[in-house]
Amino acid sequence: MFKSCVTALVATLSLLGLSAASAAEPIVIKFAHVVADDTPKGKGALLFKQLVEQRLAGQVKVEVYANSSLVGDADEMQALLDNRVQLLAPSLSKFEKYTRKLQVFDLPFLFDDEAAVKRFQSREKSRELLRSMAGSGIYGLAYWNNGLKQLSATQALRLPSDASGLAFRVQPSAVLEAQFAAVGAKSVRLPFADVFKSLQSGVVQGAENPWSNIASQNMHSVQPYITETNHGVLAYMLVTNAEFWRSIPFATRSELENIIVEVTAVVNEEAEALNRRDRERVLASGSSKLISLSPEQRQAWREKMQPVWQAYEADIGADVIRAALTVNRR
Ligand code: SIN
Repeated sequence: MFKSCVTALVATLSLLGLSAASAAEPIVIKFAHVVADDTPKGKGALLFKQLVEQRLAGQVKVEVYANSSLVGDADEMQALLDNRVQLLAPSLSKFEKYTRKLQVFDLPFLFDDEAAVKRFQSREKSRELLRSMAGSGIYGLAYWNNGLKQLSATQALRLPSDASGLAFRVQPSAVLEAQFAAVGAKSVRLPFADVFKSLQSGVVQGAENPWSNIASQNMHSVQPYITETNHGVLAYMLVTNAEFWRSIPFATRSELENIIVEVTAVVNEEAEALNRRDRERVLASGSSKLISLSPEQRQAWREKMQPVWQAYEADIGADVIRAALTVNRR
């Protein structure tokens, strides 16, 4: 009797398209990232968790691991491919192993401002890049923005020649290495979790970050000069394991994707304000001197770094670079 009841229950569940396990257990999404909670990405991850747990209660559970506490730059992509984590939002500079096209976002002085970055991300060419890693089983869900990068260092950087001989921490991107080589500087690839201690110990003398990462990692306490260059972009791709994502029942997946659209709008709306707030915090701390460039000084950096566009055109694709350039209003 008991056996026939169980058989009937299993048959009913399977008619409904559910397995016995999925009826009982929520789907767990581990969302790991490398920054602090109080940053554009950190807040986005927490908002995603909150909305999922409101709207898909009992069906999906989200666990957020900030500050490289579960996986860091060195192992997070492998963890995603092994389905040990299900959501990441790495910087677009960290996908070099899977596609070179995303390095369009690393080209120095390519975008006039953050509005231009957002315009590009909404265009067809950029939407195609969300699928550029499909062959590796990586599914791009959305672009999340942080902000424009500033140069910090142990000495004042006003002209490109001031950077000559200094070592800068870079993300794993050949374009970023070339950018520093173009001004006679060295670069060292380091995971984000190691940046503060490498600046503190003098392994590197400088770095490039948006204000939110400078402030939340307290980098200004070990970088006496920050030059407001706005020379590059720090943006992320929210990615998942393609096979995992396809395994989620359609209705649940659709709701998750609706939530992602909503969270993406909030992240990208609020990132600029968060960076403005953190700029004020850093300046108020008094530990770093702010260097503002004159138009001529900024142009000198631009002229030195811009040849990198040409050098990486074949890797990135001339069509992608052209599409990115059309969003500027110059
Ligand atoms: C991040 O904002 O995710 C870190 C970027 C970096 O490694 O500099």
